[in-house]
Amino acid sequence: MGFILAAAGSAVGLGNVWRFPYVTGENGGGAFLLIYLGIVFSIGVSVLVAELIIGRSTQLDPAGAFRKLAGGAWPIVGYMSILTAFVILSFYCVIAGWTVAYMIKSITGSVLTANPEDIGGVFDAFITDPLEPVLYTALFIGLTVFVALGGVASGIERAARILMPALFVILLVLVARSVTLDGAVEGIAFFLEPDFSKVTWETLLAALGQAFFSLSLGMGAMITYGSYMQRHDDIAGSALAVTVLDALVAVLSGLVILPAVFAFGAAPTAGPGLTFITLPSIFAQMPFGFLFAALFFFLLAIAALTSAVALLEVVIAYFMDEGSANRKKVAVTAGIATFALAVPASLSLGVMSGFTIGGKVLFDALDYLTNNITLPLGGLLVALFLGWVLKHRGEEEFVDGSTLAPALVGAWRFIIRYVAPVAILLILINGLGFI
Ligand code: TRP
Repeated sequence: MGFILAAAGSAVGLGNVWRFPYVTGENGGGAFLLIYLGIVFSIGVSVLVAELIIGRSTQLDPAGAFRKLAGGAWPIVGYMSILTAFVILSFYCVIAGWTVAYMIKSITGSVLTANPEDIGGVFDAFITDPLEPVLYTALFIGLTVFVALGGVASGIERAARILMPALFVILLVLVARSVTLDGAVEGIAFFLEPDFSKVTWETLLAALGQAFFSLSLGMGAMITYGSYMQRHDDIAGSALAVTVLDALVAVLSGLVILPAVFAFGAAPTAGPGLTFITLPSIFAQMPFGFLFAALFFFLLAIAALTSAVALLEVVIAYFMDEGSANRKKVAVTAGIATFALAVPASLSLGVMSGFTIGGKVLFDALDYLTNNITLPLGGLLVALFLGWVLKHRGEEEFVDGSTLAPALVGAWRFIIRYVAPVAILLILINGLGFI
């Protein structure tokens, strides 16, 4: 149970509440949801099992695990993970900074103006400001380093075990409020009725990337978590529980955000700001909305903090394994490096928006590079590794300690050997436009 909660704590974060609804909005709604769930419960859960197997069997960090199991070029997968974790952390902390800001601004009243159009304007003014969001990002990175350093990580985790269910309950309250808004029906239909005419390879790539991001896959994090498992802990059951919880929070968040988007006449394609524009609009219409808003953004910030600490830990663990024994020095250096990349990422939404890479501002480019390229690539390599290198050793590890696994091992083997590699490769190649 402790393991499931810890792994779910890493998985559930901004990816579910902030990223999933806006990516769904950008990709046409219902069909995306269906494809997303299809990928999560086939490729996603199977790659999660694969990462847990690698971690549990070696009890090592990603680079060390690959080195021990196979050697050769395989540890490169581990190095790619560390770089990916660092890049994700930088833009993750920018968004997390926004949640902290919105927690404070909910109380001071500056974001809950009743007029929905004003709320969008307030948000735009905030994120394009050259100073304010950067300060909140700095604050959040400072918090993350502090938790990683102070050895209070276990305290945070314990607190999160109480606070995460609270976030879940508030989400349920918000679903109830959102789906009963005037005009919400259109949003519910958008979210739940698939329109396959909108599906392209890019849609599939977006769903694949979101699945990996949300389940914390493709970058070694779940290998690390697996290494904390006891020898005979249940891999199949844990993976399934984490996947179901993570998908549930994403779907609930979609049911909060998307009906509200339509009720308040916003555009579902608004991008990263979607959650920050619609949520305050809902809160503004609720009795004691400012209290709910502050509590909600507080809980979201805590969810983001547990994820950020885990991401930073990937970086810290690597440098410490490579021989720098000074945890404090490593953590502070990593924090400063993260901030150095987070600042231009934040500014790229405002004063630096003129600077683009392949037509994307830096923030979008970093997000694209990780979610649409390195995470799927990491997942592909993990699948190939389990299916074609480890083979029976992996399957024995899977079955050991699980009541569920014997019945599933055939399906899992098939997905990991054939379905996942072929599907990921096809989606990557076509989604990136190489064909
Ligand atoms: N899954 C996290 C979320 O949904 C984000 C994330 C991606 C993450 N990779 C990670 C968190 C690795 C911790 C460790 O917000």
